[in-house]
Amino acid sequence: MKKVIAIDGPAGAGKSTLAKRAAEKLGYVYIDTGAMYRSVAWKVLQEYRDSKFTDADIAAIADNLTVTLSYENGSQRIAVDGTDVSEVIRTPEVTAIVSQVAAISSVRRKMVVLQQKMASNGGVIMDGRDIASKVLPNADVKIFLTASIEERANRRYKEMKEKGFEVDLAKLRDEIAARDKADSEREESPLVRVPEAILLDTTNMNLDEAEAAIIRLAE
Ligand code: DC
Repeated sequence: MKKVIAIDGPAGAGKSTLAKRAAEKLGYVYIDTGAMYRSVAWKVLQEYRDSKFTDADIAAIADNLTVTLSYENGSQRIAVDGTDVSEVIRTPEVTAIVSQVAAISSVRRKMVVLQQKMASNGGVIMDGRDIASKVLPNADVKIFLTASIEERANRRYKEMKEKGFEVDLAKLRDEIAARDKADSEREESPLVRVPEAILLDTTNMNLDEAEAAIIRLAE
């Protein structure tokens, strides 16, 4: 039977890379829910550029946009009102405001409905912050994926460098720590490890080892 697998954890723990690889092996669909909050953040930046915006402005934008997920050769693509934003949602500018966007309850309500619909037929691995606690509380497998802050910052640093972004490691570490704090301390669906979630600390694991651990848990 095709299962529903929920993976939660802090920024840079390797959730997307691992969930994507495990989904390919299992023949499941990978759903990256962070991309959905990022796509709203991207739209906010399109509309406000250099001007200030409030939570109410963000909520109004989210209310009026359509987020669509599709799959191309097994990779998730994400579009906002028909425009593919799969790459542009990964810029440091979007990352800088996404925690603010993800803390707004009306934004979350809209995204959670979509996420639950997408998981309704099973055979999915979904990653995020509130998947086991809120989106898919009946998931068959719940994993809390983490790694030390130093290791997570190092991984993000390499990833950003490879994409051609100029980044400072110490600054990146501070930004990740600030995002973890915002995501864990917000009122609405904070990042938590539910008691039944299996803890997978990948600080000293390579990708193959971590992937094998997820597949074992899924099976
Ligand atoms: O996983 P990520 O870095 O792409 O996520 C972007 C932001 O979205 C992150 O700061 C937390 C938020 N998020 C969330 O609140 N709930 C989710 N299910 C997924 C992401």
